[in-house]
Amino acid sequence: MKDKKNKYLVTSALPYANGHLHIGHIAGAYLPADIYVRYRKLKNDDIIFICGSDEHGTAIEMSAIKEGVTPKEIIDNYHFSNKKAFEDLGINFDIYSRTSNPIHHDTSQEIFLNLFKKGILIQKKEKQLYSEREKRFLADRYVEGTCPKCGYEEARGDQCEKCGTNLSPLELINPRSKITGDTPVIKESTHYYFPLGKYQTELESWINTRQHWKPNVINYCNGWFKSGLQDRAITRDLDWGVKVPLQGNEGKVIYVWFEAPIGYISATKELFINRKEPEKWKEYWCNPEVKLIHFIGKDNIVFHAIVFPAILKANGDFILPENIPANEFLNLEGGKQSKSKGHGVLVKDIVKEFNPDVIRYTLASNLPENRDTDFYWKDIQTKNNNELAAILGNFINRTVVFAKSKFNNNIPNRYEEYKSDTDIFDYLSLQKNVISKHYDNFRFKDAINETMNCVRAANKYFNDNEPWKEIKNNIHRAETIINNCLQICYSVSILISPFLPFTSEKILKILNAGKKDFYWENTGKIILEADKSLGKNEILFPQINNNEIMQEDLNTTTEQQSESELIDLEYFKKIKLKVAKIIECEKIPNSKKLVKLKIEIGKKTKQLVAGISEYYKPEELLGKLIIVVDNLKKTKLMGIESEGMLLAAKKNGKLTLLTVQKEIESGSEIS
Ligand code: MF3
Ligand code: ZN
Repeated sequence: MKDKKNKYLVTSALPYANGHLHIGHIAGAYLPADIYVRYRKLKNDDIIFICGSDEHGTAIEMSAIKEGVTPKEIIDNYHFSNKKAFEDLGINFDIYSRTSNPIHHDTSQEIFLNLFKKGILIQKKEKQLYSEREKRFLADRYVEGTCPKCGYEEARGDQCEKCGTNLSPLELINPRSKITGDTPVIKESTHYYFPLGKYQTELESWINTRQHWKPNVINYCNGWFKSGLQDRAITRDLDWGVKVPLQGNEGKVIYVWFEAPIGYISATKELFINRKEPEKWKEYWCNPEVKLIHFIGKDNIVFHAIVFPAILKANGDFILPENIPANEFLNLEGGKQSKSKGHGVLVKDIVKEFNPDVIRYTLASNLPENRDTDFYWKDIQTKNNNELAAILGNFINRTVVFAKSKFNNNIPNRYEEYKSDTDIFDYLSLQKNVISKHYDNFRFKDAINETMNCVRAANKYFNDNEPWKEIKNNIHRAETIINNCLQICYSVSILISPFLPFTSEKILKILNAGKKDFYWENTGKIILEADKSLGKNEILFPQINNNEIMQEDLNTTTEQQSESELIDLEYFKKIKLKVAKIIECEKIPNSKKLVKLKIEIGKKTKQLVAGISEYYKPEELLGKLIIVVDNLKKTKLMGIESEGMLLAAKKNGKLTLLTVQKEIESGSEIS
């Protein structure tokens, strides 16, 4: 292809490496991007597709503390799991990097320092809650206390879940650390701010030039402009993250939403280091000819359309996004997909059950492009049986079966062309332009629909031209029709390849065709040589029966969302609950809450650390029969080993231990 190449830099939001991807993520930011990139590659555009794991932030550090593992263990686990999930679905990044890589730390620090040196950053002192014992400032979400508005005792530092009031941790009455239960103190901390407000006018006029953006994105930005952009703190008191590269800032890291988008730049650098062209990243990021496109979900709009562009502007040198085709949400059978709530359909699970192209097709034909949409398990079956198998699979199969049985597995010759022949090829050539327009405008559902119309037309061509009749009367005509149908199969494999890449490859194999002519512009052209033999046929989309849309899956259709929080009996049985007798007890020095207990469980003894000393005096505890979890992994609290957990009921600042009604031996099992 000789025409001048357009240059594109495409990114998908970097997923947090603290949870598994669900199909809502895929429909939001990854599948549309992958389709777009595959389409552009077919057009022979110069394009790179960037993604990676977002591996810093409070949430990851806190998950690590809670699970008693290091942040590194968490991110490694999810990074590799998510990377594989993308591969299994055919989401083909040029690089899937990680923000924990040194190159990302360097790049983020460089940009931070550059802004600092230009005098752009502001320093402000703030009062924050600090835990003396943990020796750390407590992030908003990890403080709880009593809501000043409604008196709810378990309000979070950023919000009261009961009355919905937004809070700052300093407003909480009786604040305590969610991890240790300790009461924090107020301490001052200095933070760097990015003066976002200063960039408002510039950003507004820039976004005014972006009238081709999706209305949801523009409206969202206008909402922000209306309420006025505020300075944003870009540092945090945390251990885990990119260190603030200035002296006197020990224990501080760069705020994750400042550095994560810079991950797009660092990943591009890494890509070209791998390709042994270490300077080439600049030909993308610092080249105004390049179109930068961010694929994201709607919850990320402000960071990509306002904050990150402002940072890029402030830094200088870098291009700004050409477009941000943000999607709305894909809900699951009416409820919202959420990693944290855990009732999404995980990619790693669904790919085990269904052909990845069927999943891609089901999601792609129902993308939340302009409004939230719903995923129904039944759709997998309907899309597979009624569209993929009935239209696409059928056309390929009937053509190939005909050639195999009537023409000795060869591509027959073409003879005289009829009008119906030129019509179908003309139609395909025109359709490819119609479909191009849709892709160019990020209208993926329309593109797919028009592509399927091509395959419908192909079936109609087969039907109308009746090769099964012609073969008896006019063999040359039958040969021509089947040759044409095989050419159309080739065109179809081009047209579908952005959204059905695996199937497209299979069709090429069936046709025994290579990739030398595999370009968008060749749609509707005669490519395959006559007389060549075909490959092995294959049913592309076997029927999916009711019983394959598994019972489990269907359950989500009919039951309430909260069902997903239920556990089954097997799970419960794994928890070994036993009666234990407290035989020794002492307060742990320097701790308001913790006591060290020695307990007897039948013939063995164990040591427990429990947070009950505000409620019981040691002498009250001695001899008590309590309930403990006997098979809990060991942990350390304040450096003291604890080999189990006791059960207690707690509400409104009161606590009582669970005990047994009648005297029973320690070691008795509870079921
Ligand atoms: N990790 C964020 C999320 O899942 C997205 C980060 S996008 C980036 O919502 F640009 F910051 F990388
Ligand atoms: Zn409240």
